[in-house]
Amino acid sequence: MSAPFRIAPSILSADFSRLGEEVRAVVDAGAEWIHFDVMDNHYVPNLTIGPLVCEAIRPHIQAPIDVHLMVEPVDSLVPMFAKAGANIITFHPEASRHVDRTLAMIRDHGCQAGLVFNPATPLDYMAHVMDKLDVVLLMSVNPGFGGQSFIPETLNKLKAARARIDAWKEQTGKTILLEIDGGVKVDNIGAIAAAGADTFVAGSAIFGSKDYKGTIAAMKRAVEAAQAKRG
Ligand code: DX5
Ligand code: ZN
Repeated sequence: MSAPFRIAPSILSADFSRLGEEVRAVVDAGAEWIHFDVMDNHYVPNLTIGPLVCEAIRPHIQAPIDVHLMVEPVDSLVPMFAKAGANIITFHPEASRHVDRTLAMIRDHGCQAGLVFNPATPLDYMAHVMDKLDVVLLMSVNPGFGGQSFIPETLNKLKAARARIDAWKEQTGKTILLEIDGGVKVDNIGAIAAAGADTFVAGSAIFGSKDYKGTIAAMKRAVEAAQAKRG
């Protein structure tokens, strides 16, 4: 059974010289997932971390590692991340020539699969692959950097994605998680939850705060209040 919602700190804003300690600290502070941003300086204008780093943090935590691939091409990295201990692998549909094949490949390697939608990418990419999706991730900033501001139009997009996912659940009984990534803070996470997100990535808001536990707890209170209102 999955919890009603998940907080997924993005290690992009962690202290990379102490990564093992940092992931343990946020999990101890109440985080459900660890969000792992992979950037290739090709699909996005920044360069971060790969499977070696995933493998290095894997023994430090039991929590699922949520690998967000901002790379092009995608396919060759899927088996490498699966082997390195990833639990969830998401990618941008524009970065794969064969979206259906890449989704199937992720599941074949024992991971949960998801598509990531940039702010201007229409949700239509999900239409014919719903049966291969475990997660839909909406970007609320343009990918490439932490610390950017939440793009408000994403709230409308979240509502539209929520409606598609709920209709799919109604039809098939299957759950698809709805994740949000970019500019998530204590003061806007309630509105984001009210729009339908159930999985919340937050980088700078958590790792930039002095008190991880206090920040994550404040986020959870805001999400719980919003979800109680949604019913
Ligand atoms: C941006 C990344 C995000 C980023 C979020 O391309 O995908 O995961 O780390 O950082 P904040 O929460 O600081 O916007
Ligand atoms: Zn991300």
